[in-house]
This record gives sequence, C-alpha cells and structure tokens, in this order.
Amino acid sequence: MITLPEPPRLTTPSTRVRLSYLVGEQADMIHRGSDTEWLAAASQDFDGFVADRVGVRERWGVPSEVFWYVSGDYYLGTLVVRHQLIEGEVGGHIGYHVVYPWQRRGHATAMLREGLGKLPELGIDRALLTVATDNLASQTVIERNGGVEDGVNQDGEVRFWIDISK
Ligand SMILES: CC(C)(COP(=O)(O)OP(=O)(O)OC[C@H]1O[C@@H](n2cnc3c(N)ncnc32)[C@H](O)[C@@H]1OP(=O)(O)O)[C@@H](O)C(=O)NCCC(=O)NCCS
Repeated sequence: MITLPEPPRLTTPSTRVRLSYLVGEQADMIHRGSDTEWLAAASQDFDGFVADRVGVRERWGVPSEVFWYVSGDYYLGTLVVRHQLIEGEVGGHIGYHVVYPWQRRGHATAMLREGLGKLPELGIDRALLTVATDNLASQTVIERNGGVEDGVNQDGEVRFWIDISK
C-alpha cells in the first residue's frame, strides 16, 4: 500500500492533485459501474474544472462548498457541505465519497469528522445526513461519528442526526 506523506485533510480543490484526482475518480467510476464521460472534459481542462469547484456556490438550490480530502499530491475523496438543507431535506448537510483505491482505511470516518467541524461556524449545531437503506458502509461511517437514526425521508433514504453542539 502507498504510504501517505501526511495525515489527509479537507482542502479547497486544487490543480496540484490533477493526476491522482483523475485516476482515482476513474477507478472509482469503473468500480461503481458509473458514467466516466465527465472525466474526458475534466482531463482536457482541469484548471477550469477546479475553478468551477472553488468557493461557496449555489448547488441543488442552496449555498454549498466542495472540499477535497488530500494528503500531499494524493486525492482521496470529496466532501460537500450544504449551508442549508435542500427542500425535502434530501441529501442532508453533508455528502461525501472516498474513491475506491482508498476505501476501507478509515478515511471516510475521519473525513466526515473533519467536515462536521465546519458546521458550527455556519450556525449549524445539528447535522442531518441521509443514506440509501442498502448503504451499510456509509451508515457505519455516520454512526461512528455519533449519528442517531431518525426514520426515512421522502426518497426512502435513512435519516441520521449528529449533534455537534457538544
Ligand atoms: C461509504 C464510503 C464513503 C466509505 O468510505 P471508507 O473510507 O471506505 O470508510 P471507512 O474506511 O471509514 O469505513 C468505516 C466502516 O464502514 C464499513 N465499511 C466501509 N466500506 C465497506 C464495504 N465496502 N463493505 C462493508 N462495510 C464497509 C466498515 O465497517 C468500515 O470499518 P472497518 O473497515 O473498520 O470494518 C465509500 O465506500 C464510498 O465512497 N462509497 C460510495 C459513495 C457513498 O456511498 N457515499 C456516501 C453517501 S451517503
């Protein structure tokens, strides 16, 4: 296994991790059986791709910010912080993924912990996370961060609340 140069941290998207981002996301898309088409444009103009992801932007109709989980030149995953809940509370305050080559090493658990730390400054002291009923991996990640289950949303996803006021 690759030894990371330093503990990974949530960072602003940056062209520094171009290669590991593209290769990591491509591996992840292939593993998930998802569309890889968007990677063609990203690889042709990575500067523009990154510029579109920096800062607080309106996404899904609410202000949100994208962070990349990075150690040195290695990109491991993405976490999105929504400053407000989307109508119907679909998606929750935080969404995330760790790319396939870096899964099962505790990165999502640590990444979510760091992401939750960004919410108090936004005036959020109770975070909603929503997960597909069959996504036991993500449910474990949320529970390891103090998530308490609270029924399902309109899309049939499991809702979890995490109290971050403590
Ligand atoms: C869910 C996801 C973020 C987990 O990332 P990760 O970095 O592998 O998670 P962790 O290493 O922190 O795993 C924590 C625990 O979750 C469980 N887990 C993680 N991946 C698992 C898998 N593929 N199968 C079964 N359990 C799994 C394990 O109990 C694991 O702890 P362990 O390795 O000590 O047994 C990652 O699989 C992913 O990005 N999936 C696709 C996107 C997604 O589901 N995002 C979340 C949407 S709500």
